[in-house]
Amino acid sequence: MMIKNICCIGAGYVGGPTMAVIAQKCPHIKVTVVDLNQDRIKAWNDTDLSRLPVYEPGLDAVVKEARGRNLFFSTEVDQAIDEAEMIFISVNTPTKTYGVGKGMAADLKYIELCARQIAKVAKSNKIVVEKSTLPVRTAQAIKDILNHTGNGVDFQILSNPEFLAEGTAIEDLFQPDRVLIGGDSTKEGEKAIQCLVDIYANWVDKDKILTTNTWSSELSKLTANAFLAQRVSSINAMSELCEKTGANVNEVSKAIGMDSRIGSKFLKASVGFGGSCFQKDILNLVYIAKSYSLHEVADYWEQVVIMNDHQKRRFAKNIINTLYNTVSGKKIAFLGWAFKKDTNDTRESAAIYVANDLLNEQAMISVYDPKVSQEQVFFDLNYLETRTAEENSKLTHVEMDPYKAIEDSHAIAVLTEWDEFKTYDWQKIYDSMLKPAFVFDGRNLLDKNKLEAIGFIYQSIGS
Ligand code: NAD
Ligand code: UGA
Repeated sequence: MMIKNICCIGAGYVGGPTMAVIAQKCPHIKVTVVDLNQDRIKAWNDTDLSRLPVYEPGLDAVVKEARGRNLFFSTEVDQAIDEAEMIFISVNTPTKTYGVGKGMAADLKYIELCARQIAKVAKSNKIVVEKSTLPVRTAQAIKDILNHTGNGVDFQILSNPEFLAEGTAIEDLFQPDRVLIGGDSTKEGEKAIQCLVDIYANWVDKDKILTTNTWSSELSKLTANAFLAQRVSSINAMSELCEKTGANVNEVSKAIGMDSRIGSKFLKASVGFGGSCFQKDILNLVYIAKSYSLHEVADYWEQVVIMNDHQKRRFAKNIINTLYNTVSGKKIAFLGWAFKKDTNDTRESAAIYVANDLLNEQAMISVYDPKVSQEQVFFDLNYLETRTAEENSKLTHVEMDPYKAIEDSHAIAVLTEWDEFKTYDWQKIYDSMLKPAFVFDGRNLLDKNKLEAIGFIYQSIGS
C-alpha cells in the first residue's frame, strides 16, 4: 500500500520538524500536523517564519517550501485522523507529577487520549506510529484500546522513535544515523513496517533503516538516551576529580575520546545536562526496572540523574563560595537560559536550577539569552514554586542586550554554549563590571588565557 495521507498528533519540538521534513522530502504525501493547542498551530501557520513556535536552524526554509503545498497545521484533529492512512503520535510524555510512579514514571495520559480518539474516529484501517518516547510495551496498551473501543477496523501499531537532537534537528532528520522501525512479525505487521520504510526511503539510505520487533524498538529509544546521558554524567563526575587533582577535564576528555572504542562525542563536561528528555527517560527506565524488581539495574541508571543534580548544585555552590560566601544583593549575569545552543527550549535547563540556588541566597540575577523570552524565564522560575512570582520578579531581570545584562555585575555565569558569547568585546565587558570580576564558565566555552589577561578571575568546569 502507498501512503498518501499522514496525520501527526502533536505539533511540538518533534512533531513539527519531523513532519515538515517528511512533507518536504515526499511531495506526493499530504501531511497534516494537528494539536489541541490553538496558539501553537497559529504560530506554525504564521507568515512571519521567525515566529514559528520552535526555533531550529534550517526549519524555516523547510516549512517555507512545504507549507500550503503538502504540509498543513490544523486544530481539526478528527478530520485529520479520518483522512489519514498513517497516524503518528508525537504528543508529550512527561514525568508523572501525581499518584503511583510520581516523579519517575512517564505520564501516558496524552497517549491514551490519542488512542481513544483514533479508535472513535477511524472508519478505515490505520497504521498508528508511536513517535513519542514510550515505556517498553506501550504498544500493547495502545493496541488494546484501539481494538476494544474501535469501530472494527484493523490497526497496526509501529514504534518509530525519534533520535533528533534539538538545535540540529533538521540536519539530524536529513541525515539520520539510523531510522528505527519496530512492528509485529505477522504478515500485516510486516506490510505496515514496509509502508513506513518506503516513506523514509525517499531520502534515507536503505541500510540505515533498521527494522526490529516492537519491544526492541521501544526499549532502544530509552537505552540510547540513557547511554548518552550516562556519558555526560561520567565526564562530569571526572570534572570534579579534575578540580581536586590539577588534571584538566578537557585534556582528559580528548585523551580518552581518541580511543576509537570510546569515541569523542558526548564527552564535554558541563554544568549538567538539561532538556525535556534525558532525565525523564532515565527516570522512566529506572521505574520500569523497579517494576520488574530489577533493583540493581534501577540503581545503576538512577545514579546518572543523581550525578547530574549534584553537578548543577555544585556549580551554584562554587559561585557562592568564590564570591566570599555571600551573594546577597550581588548582581550575577547569566549568559544563556536555553538548555543548549541553537534552541529556544528551556525545559529542565541547568540555568533554572543554578538560578534557583542563587536566588535562595538573595542574589540579583540578570539573564540574557538570544532566543529565550522574558516571559519564559519567569515561567520557568515560577514553575518551581520556591518563591512567589513577586519575589522572583524583584530579584530577576531579563535583558535583550548582553552588555546591559552584565553591566555592574560581580560575576558572569555561562549557562548555554551560544556561539555569539565568544564574539563579545570582553575588554568592554570587564570595564563595565564591579571588581574583582569573575567568570564561571559552565560550558568551558570561553578562552581562559584571554580573559585572565584582561583581568578576569576565570573558572571553568573541571580545571
Ligand atoms: P512538546 O510538548 O513540544 O509537544 C507535544 C505536543 O502535543 C504539544 O503541543 C501538545 O499540545 C500536544 N498534545 C498533547 N496531547 C494532545 C492531544 N490529545 N491531541 C493533540 N495534541 C496533543 O513535546 P516534544 O518535545 O515534541 O516531545 C514529544 C515526544 O517526543 C515526547 O515523548 C519526547 O520524549 C519525544 N522526543 C522528543 C525529542 C525532543 O528533542 N524534544 C526528541 C526525541 C523524542
Ligand atoms: C537528546 C539526544 O541527543 C537525542 O538523540 C534524543 O532524540 C533527544 O535527547 C530526545 O529524546 O529528546 P537533546 O536533549 O535535544 O537530544 O540534546 P543533546 O545534544 O543530547 O543535549 C542534551 C543535554 O546534554 C544538553 O543540556 C547538553 O548541553 C548536554 N551535553 C551534551 C553536555 O553537557 N555534554 C555533552 O558532551 C553533550
